[in-house]
Amino acid sequence: MNQEDLFKKLIAHSKEYGYIFPSSEIYDGLGAVYDYGQNGVELKNNIKKYWWDSMILLNENVVGIDSAIFMHPTIWKASGHVDAFNDPLIDNKDSKKRYRADVLIEEELGKIEGKMDKEIEKAKNRFGDSFDEKIFRETNPRVLEYQQKWDDLHTRFAEALNNSDLVELKQIIEDNEIVCPVSGTRNWTDVRQFNLMFSTEMGSTADSSLKIYLRPETAQGIFVNYLNVQKTGRMKIPFGIAQIGKAFRNEIVARQFIFRMREFEQMEMQFFVRPGSELSWFEHWKEIRIKWHKALGFGESNYRFHVHEKLAHYANAAVDIEFKFPFGFKEVEGIHSRTDFDLSQHQKFSGKKIQYFDPELNESYVPFVVETSIGVDRMFLQILSASYCEEEIDAGDGKKDIRVVLRLPAPLAPVKLAVMPLIKKDGLPEKAREIMNELKFEFYCQFDEKDSIGKRYRRQDAIGTPFCVTVDHQTMEDNTVTIRYRDTMEQERVPISQLKSMISEKVNLKRLFEKLM
Ligand code: GAP
Repeated sequence: MNQEDLFKKLIAHSKEYGYIFPSSEIYDGLGAVYDYGQNGVELKNNIKKYWWDSMILLNENVVGIDSAIFMHPTIWKASGHVDAFNDPLIDNKDSKKRYRADVLIEEELGKIEGKMDKEIEKAKNRFGDSFDEKIFRETNPRVLEYQQKWDDLHTRFAEALNNSDLVELKQIIEDNEIVCPVSGTRNWTDVRQFNLMFSTEMGSTADSSLKIYLRPETAQGIFVNYLNVQKTGRMKIPFGIAQIGKAFRNEIVARQFIFRMREFEQMEMQFFVRPGSELSWFEHWKEIRIKWHKALGFGESNYRFHVHEKLAHYANAAVDIEFKFPFGFKEVEGIHSRTDFDLSQHQKFSGKKIQYFDPELNESYVPFVVETSIGVDRMFLQILSASYCEEEIDAGDGKKDIRVVLRLPAPLAPVKLAVMPLIKKDGLPEKAREIMNELKFEFYCQFDEKDSIGKRYRRQDAIGTPFCVTVDHQTMEDNTVTIRYRDTMEQERVPISQLKSMISEKVNLKRLFEKLM
């Protein structure tokens, strides 16, 4: 299956199985806003728990907060968002569609990468086991030509971004003959800056109302609570404050499903450190965070670090963790060394002293900050794309069938266990209910008695339930059931009394945390 088809199938599957619905669908939807359905919300909550517990339980010096979405508007002046939280936009005059100029160029770079990958794939198939990718990349004339083209475009693009040179960005688009995906033409406007913050009014009368912003990141809620947490928690540097919450951005390019949304959720952690130690803490958190992703078992080669070409106004080092989505490697998480920029700015704009007295140094300073920032929704998409699988299976009588299965890591799966009476009589449903009533306090279980057992297994495969337990006539005699494993489809006969411990052991988040230690 090609990657474009896979992505379309993922979107359809998400809707069909209650993971993600377009927002306001009965009113024809709202651009780049999505709702999470009955299974989606469970997966999302499990992702958040995986992140939250890995921050708060595994690090004695990280605590959490939950700050308000509405904040004093001066915060956004101090943070630089009012003046500089912009994206370079460009319009196509024929289709009237609006694009981010930097994204158009990044997509062009992605296309060149795709051509190189195709050459490598072809050679891999031709040479089999004797294929050496490194040598091929260094010697194949076509790959070298693509690489040179990529390097030239990349260097020029990075320079234009670093200098915020909008004229050069347009020139790059023209020189590379980048066309509008809708009209197919190169009839572009100039590139302009566009502020991404949503604003609204707070207060009841026109005279007294205040223009406030919907937060575009959760981080500022942490910075403005630094003193509160440090003092009330008697925190000693280095320490971190973590938060999960909604963020809002009026994205120009709102495509790619839940990858780029206008309302989304972030999981951010600000780690406050002694000035001068920030770059070693930056390395520390880089390692911790990539391990957290890889613990899910989606394969080492699906991740890479991407060092920022253009550092944000507040950063002295920044890297993205990228995941290989069906539409290529894209950012899931950012790790930024934000210096003392934010706290210093809030000190300046609020007039309040925001410092830390370091007893070891016997001096006060504005702490430096290393931030880890990940989008819940992008993490969700990462997990869905890595888990979605179509496989050919035997349907009996020499026939083949396609099984769609979400191979979700068991600790993250929405439903952990489906309990099924083989038939709807002979006391089997009652026995199945008994089992369910015992286990439902431990993990999310579903009771399913409709349709044939095969159909019920398929339904559970499609939503990623790792275990199905079937109650049959033998159960009534010896208190055993069959447990069926989603990934292998193997079945095993086990005593009911062992179910709780068998399943708990596999679905507990502890299984993932052990890989982080
Ligand atoms: N506090 C730093 C910050 O907000 P960012 O790189 O702009 O940094 C961090 O955002 C993460 O938030 C990204 O890596 C991504 O996972 C997520 N994110 C950002 N914009 C998003 C959007 N429009 N839709 C979904 N997720 C988004």
